[in-house]
Amino acid sequence: MPLVKMSTLLNEAREGGYAVGSFSVSNMEMVLGVLKAVEETKSPAILQIAEVRLNHSPLEIIGPLMVAAARNCSMPVAVHFDHGKTTEKIKQALDIGFTSVMLDGSHLPFEENAEITAATKLLAQKYDADCEGEIGCVGGSEDGSEDIAINCTSPVQALEFYKKTNVDALAVAIGNAHGNYKQAPKLRFDILEETAKLVKAPLVLHGGTGILPEDFRKCIKLGINKINIATATFDSVEKSVRTAYENGAINGYYDLQTAEVEGAYHNAIKHIEIFGCSMKG
Ligand code: 13P
Repeated sequence: MPLVKMSTLLNEAREGGYAVGSFSVSNMEMVLGVLKAVEETKSPAILQIAEVRLNHSPLEIIGPLMVAAARNCSMPVAVHFDHGKTTEKIKQALDIGFTSVMLDGSHLPFEENAEITAATKLLAQKYDADCEGEIGCVGGSEDGSEDIAINCTSPVQALEFYKKTNVDALAVAIGNAHGNYKQAPKLRFDILEETAKLVKAPLVLHGGTGILPEDFRKCIKLGINKINIATATFDSVEKSVRTAYENGAINGYYDLQTAEVEGAYHNAIKHIEIFGCSMKG
């Protein structure tokens, strides 16, 4: 199965009433772990990396690796540039072959966000790639470096934003936040339902780590078709390595590598099952 466009996966998910997991990765082991889960569950998936993570994983190195891994997978996999901040990096991702990009203008005034997102959509189109935008503010920040306050999406504004930008996927803020929640969030399902009634595009839930399985299922029922998972994968990899050391299972570098792959694999399997996308590849 070739590398695919995000819109192909999300439109099928919309029809089928499930969500596709968009898993953040930062090295080859995480990519291998996610794709092992994808192959085993015969599920579609999205591999993603956010611009703030590039200090640790340079785009010119991790990007081609992600694209090659997607091409090599027997299931449909899209490769996404998450929380793009600069046109320079978004363009670099598109040049590398990413099949979708997100411009995160959620912190900007409405008009500016709409304008810069619409321009990114036009740029992505030139590469036959897709564009995600965000309206409202998801809390925290992708790498935990900023404490951005939650600002729930206004459904009416979401519709206006969609009309102005024609994005292929729209991220909404319904009380969700990046990173580990201190307690399970109280999601605004009413806002999600209203937004989904008005906006005829697949909706995206950021801040997937720590959301309860029943809340994920409810979000999917109400119109979420892409769910971003980052912290849970990083935590699962770290825990898998720590446990393997504690159990004396690491006797050299390749055992360490195996533990990393397994950590990413177990986290992806868990979410794929909850999102209802196994056997949908
Ligand atoms: P978490 O780190 O909370 O899983 O959020 C991931 C995310 O939304 C990436 O865009």
